[in-house]
Amino acid sequence: MAIKRIAVLTTGGDAPGMNAAIRAVVRFAWHNKLEVIGVFRGWHGLINEDLKPMSHRSVSGIINQGGTILKTARCPEFETKGGQEKAFQTLKKHAIDAMVVIGGDGSFRAVHGFYKKYKVPCIGIPASIDNDINGIDMTIGADTAVNTALSAIDNIRDTATSMERIFVIEVMGRDSGFIALSVALAGGCEDVLIPGKILDFENICRDIVEGNKKGKISWIIVVAEGVASADEIAKKIAERTGLDTRAVTLGHVQRGGRPTALSRELALRLGEAAVECLLKGESDKAVGIRAGKIVCLDLEFAITKKKLEADSFYKLIKILT
Ligand code: F6P
Repeated sequence: MAIKRIAVLTTGGDAPGMNAAIRAVVRFAWHNKLEVIGVFRGWHGLINEDLKPMSHRSVSGIINQGGTILKTARCPEFETKGGQEKAFQTLKKHAIDAMVVIGGDGSFRAVHGFYKKYKVPCIGIPASIDNDINGIDMTIGADTAVNTALSAIDNIRDTATSMERIFVIEVMGRDSGFIALSVALAGGCEDVLIPGKILDFENICRDIVEGNKKGKISWIIVVAEGVASADEIAKKIAERTGLDTRAVTLGHVQRGGRPTALSRELALRLGEAAVECLLKGESDKAVGIRAGKIVCLDLEFAITKKKLEADSFYKLIKILT
């Protein structure tokens, strides 16, 4: 069946560059004479028929904006049989032939499950600050989040060295550890704690005490969310070393802001790739870039746990510190 009308939606946590992806999907679809329906608040909008036809002009002036003009939400109702059935009825009622879903691994899991049941053609565009989609180099938004966190860490270093303190900085990333490793390396941080790596707290404190004896006056330790809270770690370090220690949780600041050139370029190329995949008859796939080339992967593969090159990063961080 030839595809005439597609839906585009953003789901799960927003990521900088989602708007650029929407822009590319809408304009490339129109270029190929497809109609586009924007769905508001992800699955929520599909369940509740919150839709709006989109044209070339609907996506003017958004390429540089963080967040998503389509809004996004977490939607437990879509995990239920009833919710999925309502979403399917909306697609049928509005003669929508296919979907482009922009989101992270949770969104991909949901769309893969929906496809298995209803066989509505769908392509996922990976957008998440967590960079946890398997088989591709980077998700849309991850580079922006790393730069945002890095800029905050650079600022904190100024006060850390001036006041001779230890800072424990918690970054986002669910259970991926990607942001933590990237900023720890690029920010010249002294240590990093990521999920999956055994937390050798005694060793960290020993390093600090020994370093301090030799005249080292400040430390920045990055902790990925999911390992422990920055407050918890900072408190323990202060108790164990007797040194002035502060905790900072960067939180949702990492999700916003203007997308970097890399996040935008990725979004625009993947928007085009997703529509092209649909036109070629692909379905239940995710598009991405691997080693500089566009790839189209099975969603099933894309949602398997991504392996991070944590050991080599960690080794380098410790050698260079
Ligand atoms: O998946 C993106 C992300 O920002 C994660 O890094 C974080 O664990 C989660 O979303 C936070 O979700 P929420 O904004 O719903 O609390």
